[in-house]
Amino acid sequence: MARPRTSIHGQWSSRWAFVLAAAGSAVGLGNIWKFPYITGQNGGGAFVLVYLACIAVIGIPIMMAEVMIGRRGRQSPINTMINLSEEAGRSRYWSLLGWSGVIAGFLILSYYSVIAGWGLAYVFRTAIGMFHGADADKVGAIFKDFLASPERLLAWHTIFMVMTMVVVARGVRSGLEQAVRFLMPALFVLLIVMVGYAMHIAAFAKGVEFLFSPDFSKLSRDSVLIAMGHAFFTLSLGMGAIMIYGSYMPERVSIAKTTFLIVGADTLVALMAGLAIFPIVFDNGLEPSAGPGLIFVTLPLAFGQMPGGALFGTLFFVLVVFAAWTSSISLIEPAVTWLVENHGMCRLTACMWAGIVTWLMGVGTVFSFNLWSEDKLFGKTFFDLLDYLTANIMLPLGGLFIAIFAAWVMREADVREELAMVNKFGFRLWRFLVRYVTPVGVVIVFLNAIGVIK
Ligand code: TRP
Repeated sequence: MARPRTSIHGQWSSRWAFVLAAAGSAVGLGNIWKFPYITGQNGGGAFVLVYLACIAVIGIPIMMAEVMIGRRGRQSPINTMINLSEEAGRSRYWSLLGWSGVIAGFLILSYYSVIAGWGLAYVFRTAIGMFHGADADKVGAIFKDFLASPERLLAWHTIFMVMTMVVVARGVRSGLEQAVRFLMPALFVLLIVMVGYAMHIAAFAKGVEFLFSPDFSKLSRDSVLIAMGHAFFTLSLGMGAIMIYGSYMPERVSIAKTTFLIVGADTLVALMAGLAIFPIVFDNGLEPSAGPGLIFVTLPLAFGQMPGGALFGTLFFVLVVFAAWTSSISLIEPAVTWLVENHGMCRLTACMWAGIVTWLMGVGTVFSFNLWSEDKLFGKTFFDLLDYLTANIMLPLGGLFIAIFAAWVMREADVREELAMVNKFGFRLWRFLVRYVTPVGVVIVFLNAIGVIK
């Protein structure tokens, strides 16, 4: 089959548009909400180190592979995999990789939207000064109260899902691209303000130490798996989101360079979020291991005490919501493009279907914080299970197969042509990493987690 040179869904207007969109996808709740709380739960420094190692050795090579596959295939991940496996003369079963990605994206978005809804609620709560002068107990009680109400969580979840589907329905250029243009820079500036604030509190050094001085005795088998899973989650890898964004990428843009920019920005934002949050945690005698509520019980405390806190706080949560927004659209884009390509739907209808199904699934997450909070399987609530299954199992597995596909299934000449790396050594290094290091790394972490190897 002749390979289409552009996607029927459109194309980014420039290299920067791609970088911003992919960075918008990568930077999200994963950086600001999840990274701090899992770092807190897994003991700090050593966990951060493993996470950084996974970003470097597994994340970067896989991101390049995913963008490369997407740009060569130019279709929804499912059809791209069919296309490229035909090009390589291999089995069409590789399309299963596209399928697992679509399913993972839908599962992740179902809970992602609920958490983003918390962020939305906190925009208004900070704006009306609810946290003004509040102490840790009061802020904690407010959050607990909020979680106890399924109606409220549902309402915010619904609003966020509608926001997401509106952008996705508008398509590549007028929807996605416009949204990320000014939101990403604004988020960055506000994070700098927050870190600046944290530097002035007494416990700053303690926060830095917690984040950066590794104590390997605190690292469990599961922690290593969680660190690797998070490397995938935070970079949006392993489910086709970066693949579909790559499919809208212009021909001549360098995949290697843009990957470094995206990964650099994402890592920086996560570390800055950690630097802003842990000093507040220690300053107020809070528990770093508080779990998913961590940023909702620490940051409002700071906003309640600093001058102009209501303003900063509102802005901050607005940007958290925006970061989540630019991520959530990439979680559902692969499913929407597939519905358009294979079921002849228009974008709007495809969005409605995808949105409704995801919304329904999200109800389970809403209930796991109240009505079902005591219903546990393997000690985990519905939300915990969904998060664990997607981030720690589905994404790394998807990434593993993406690496295998790019390095062992596709013809080397095709890969070389698509990556078009000027630097010969760079290409060989990348190929060595995706062929051996990345797959072996993922497998070792899996085997370690289930206790097969030490
Ligand atoms: N990377 C985003 C975050 O850190 C979440 C996300 C968006 C994602 N698209 C994805 C995660 C695709 C996995 C796969 O918040």
